Amino acid sequence: MIEKCRLIEFPQNGDERGRLVIVEGNQDIPFDIKRVFYIYGSDRDVIRGRHANYHSEFVLINVAGTSRVKVDDGTNQMVYHLDRPHIGIYLPRMIWKDMYDFSEDSVLLVLASEHYDPEEYIRDYDKYLEIVRR
Ligand code: TYD
Repeated sequence: MIEKCRLIEFPQNGDERGRLVIVEGNQDIPFDIKRVFYIYGSDRDVIRGRHANYHSEFVLINVAGTSRVKVDDGTNQMVYHLDRPHIGIYLPRMIWKDMYDFSEDSVLLVLASEHYDPEEYIRDYDKYLEIVRR
């Protein structure tokens, strides 16, 4: 499953006025975007995330600053460094994720395939392992 996580490079339009990065749902990323949220003001020693989702797929983009994302499918783990505004990481459903090592200027933009529903979050790692290893 972890092999389905992947970095995506988004098209950017650059000219003398600056740069514009384009992320189109169902084109540049493999789902329709239903929800957008962003995380900033997290200290470097904070670990966010620590959950998996039954249904939601996500794309995470550090539109400013940098962070790291550890993805885990219950068997394998991998760490991605998000450090450019036109690079995102795609996370399929049922991936356990930790976001951490936020730079002071980090703004982590998250695009989600589903509306927020706390019921579809798995926040207990042992429960997650039980479900994915069934
Ligand atoms: P949380 O899931 O803990 O954030 P992270 O994934 O970064 O660790 O969410 C923090 C709070 O915000 C929590 O009370 C739930 C709420 N929340 C919403 O109401 N809607 C949302 O779309 C998200 C992502 C969180």
